[in-house]
Amino acid sequence: MIDEIRRIQASSGSQIAQASTLDGLAEIERSLTGKGSELLGLKKGLGALSPDERRETGLVMNEASEAIKAAVAARRAELEAEAQLALAQAERLDLTEVRADRDAGHLHLVTQTIEELEDVFVGLGFHVAEGPEVEDDWHNFTALNFGQYHPARDMQDTFFVGLGGPRDVVMRTHTSPVQIRVMEGQQPPIYSVMPGRVYRNEATDATHLAVFHQLECLVIDRGITFAHLAGTIDRFTKAYFGPGWTSRLRPSYFPFTEPSAEFDIQRPDGTWLELGGCGMVHPNVLANCGIDPEEFSGFAFGFGLDRLASTRHGVTDLRELASTDIRFLEQF
Ligand code: DAH
Repeated sequence: MIDEIRRIQASSGSQIAQASTLDGLAEIERSLTGKGSELLGLKKGLGALSPDERRETGLVMNEASEAIKAAVAARRAELEAEAQLALAQAERLDLTEVRADRDAGHLHLVTQTIEELEDVFVGLGFHVAEGPEVEDDWHNFTALNFGQYHPARDMQDTFFVGLGGPRDVVMRTHTSPVQIRVMEGQQPPIYSVMPGRVYRNEATDATHLAVFHQLECLVIDRGITFAHLAGTIDRFTKAYFGPGWTSRLRPSYFPFTEPSAEFDIQRPDGTWLELGGCGMVHPNVLANCGIDPEEFSGFAFGFGLDRLASTRHGVTDLRELASTDIRFLEQF
């Protein structure tokens, strides 16, 4: 009987090694040690042996069972590792893969415009700064010299955020609060531009959006004059649109500048586009930020980027910029 057990054990090795799937392996294991297997049949015969023989044969029997069990377990581990590898290969995603047959997309027209203008201003020696879109009253209004009950607060239809006291927190209505943040953070000289998204609680139409973009410019230094302001506006107009374009200033009012102006740019066809506001930074604003108005002066301007980009690219309805229509977006 011992010879037979040894024979079964010896032949089990190659059977187990041949199993090529987990199911196949389970099948082989059953045929070697399960019900109806030769080994189990022999085990039943142990009872008929003399005690000495039974002990010796029992030992060999146990050895054989253990050896088969171990071989099956080893093969199972191999097959599981292979299955895992096959799965990983099958579900492999190459995120760096470039597919020439598919348009990978590109930056939105407004983002392209921001990057282009940043390049223009960086070329003129400016820094780029950013601020939060959810602002407090101090930065969006009070530090910018909007009096508590000044009607100018109503010029900007404000979205209020339900944080703090009533009207304490707003969606910024312009990028001018970033001026305050820049001046609070550093002493002059300051040459900064601040692009970003702004919010107004108003009905949208072809020339107005409730969520749009502005670019703010701030210069604070010794001896800065209105001429620097006019020159800078004209310079970037030509840099962005081309040499045939010009700009003009019209007297206006903003609480944070004195004197204040609005600026328009002239299209090559002679028509004018109202673009933004500007002026010499009000002494109260400098003082609010810890900058001495006796020593320093400066100018600021801010304008709508959506309008600027639409003008250059012949977009007649600003709402297109907020659309997800791929036929519109892929033109730029
Ligand atoms: N913040 C103003 C607005 O959104 C535009 C503006 C006017 C910005 C005058 C300025 C400025 O920096 O000096 O209506």
